Amino acid sequence: MSKNDSVIAALEVALQASPEDIGLLAHLAQLLCEDERDEDALPLYQQMLVQEPANVTALRGARQCAEKLGNSAMSAAYNQLLVSLGQESVETNSHVVSANQQTKSSAVVPNLRVVGGTEVDHLAEESSEPEITLADVGGMESVKRRLHLSFLGPLSNPELMATYGKDVGGGLLLYGPPGCGKTFIARALAGELRANFLSIGLSDVLDMYIGESERRLHELFEEARRKRPAILFFDELDALGQKRSQLRNSGMRSVVNQLLSEMDSINTDNKNLFIIGATNHPWDVDAALKRPGRFDRTVAVFPPDQQARSYILQSLLAKRPTEDIDIAQLAGRTKGFSGADLKHLVESAVEYVLESCIESGNVRPLVNRDFDKPLKDLRPSTYSWFETARNYAMFANESGAYDELLEYIRAHKL
Ligand SMILES: Nc1ncnc2c1ncn2[C@@H]1O[C@H](COP(=O)(O)OP(=O)(O)O)[C@@H](O)[C@H]1O
Ligand SMILES: [Mg+2]
Repeated sequence: MSKNDSVIAALEVALQASPEDIGLLAHLAQLLCEDERDEDALPLYQQMLVQEPANVTALRGARQCAEKLGNSAMSAAYNQLLVSLGQESVETNSHVVSANQQTKSSAVVPNLRVVGGTEVDHLAEESSEPEITLADVGGMESVKRRLHLSFLGPLSNPELMATYGKDVGGGLLLYGPPGCGKTFIARALAGELRANFLSIGLSDVLDMYIGESERRLHELFEEARRKRPAILFFDELDALGQKRSQLRNSGMRSVVNQLLSEMDSINTDNKNLFIIGATNHPWDVDAALKRPGRFDRTVAVFPPDQQARSYILQSLLAKRPTEDIDIAQLAGRTKGFSGADLKHLVESAVEYVLESCIESGNVRPLVNRDFDKPLKDLRPSTYSWFETARNYAMFANESGAYDELLEYIRAHKL
């Protein structure tokens, strides 16, 4: 127990009532810092900065937290802002040195990976993941058909598109419940197009201070342009466009604008750069990002169908000792399971076997009944997503954006 605990608890209650109160945020963050709870304090300082980007207390607090948490790139970024605000002199501050070093180091770079690239410069790390194509995506025939119609087909028939006065540019937005293969499919599209794959977790970009995010975004696009043909994959696209922040946060607004202008220039002077976004929350994606020429095509990626589940189970079990496992039957018993749920299921079954091996002292392969207990315990994680999604599909389906979702919900009685 710390002497601050009761005050912290009271401040937390007060903040629930007025979550944007700068004074409360600052006070609570300071107490959390005193208690060495920097990981809790940092987001509070960041919340303050969302409202007041030049708040010196918040900048100093965030810098200190980031530093104590070992994120020197972030602390350097905050420091640079303090310097640029004239709050910190260049000579006297030790952070400045690390700020300069950091601009050259890969530590500043968000989660960026390149698959299948030949040249890798300082901005990107090479991924060890093998190249995959749509043939590696099990089942999901309707998704593949839609991908061909709306993305791959037009790319391979630019003349046809021109005849109909349609641009080939723009981006593709994949949406659906978590763990159902959006990232996997984006990688498969890169393989399909024999393109480099650069993946960016947007929350990483936004972790940087707001002014930094825009520069970072521009650099990422430049990086992708150098690596063409390339797919630039934005994961968690909703992080950029949450309506809430859109209203009150001009900083985030300018990051969105930066993304828009980068995407628009793709149409004009950048061939062979493809933008794919993914989100579990399409309703939180900034509307400006969905306009024509931007993420104007959406493809829903729903939980794997029976065939996809068989395929996924097959590949999950391929590397383990098994005996007479009835994959088709198992796929039938896992309706609604995401790819990630299936992985979890197989891991639980393996744990169960390991336990029984240790108890009995005999090593034995995995058999059908090893799945009985984990299947009883596990619920598909996708149902709760559909509960939320249903409301948007029914009540916010402007211009038919969620027709695919509605159809799926009806067909599967969700
Ligand atoms: N149709 C599929 N075929 C093969 N593997 C799949 C399929 N759908 C999902 N997976 C597997 O499930 C895992 C989770 O998918 P992922 O792409 O990370 O989901 P999301 O990005 O939608 O959250 C992936 O590692 C992938 O191996
Ligand atoms: Mg993903």
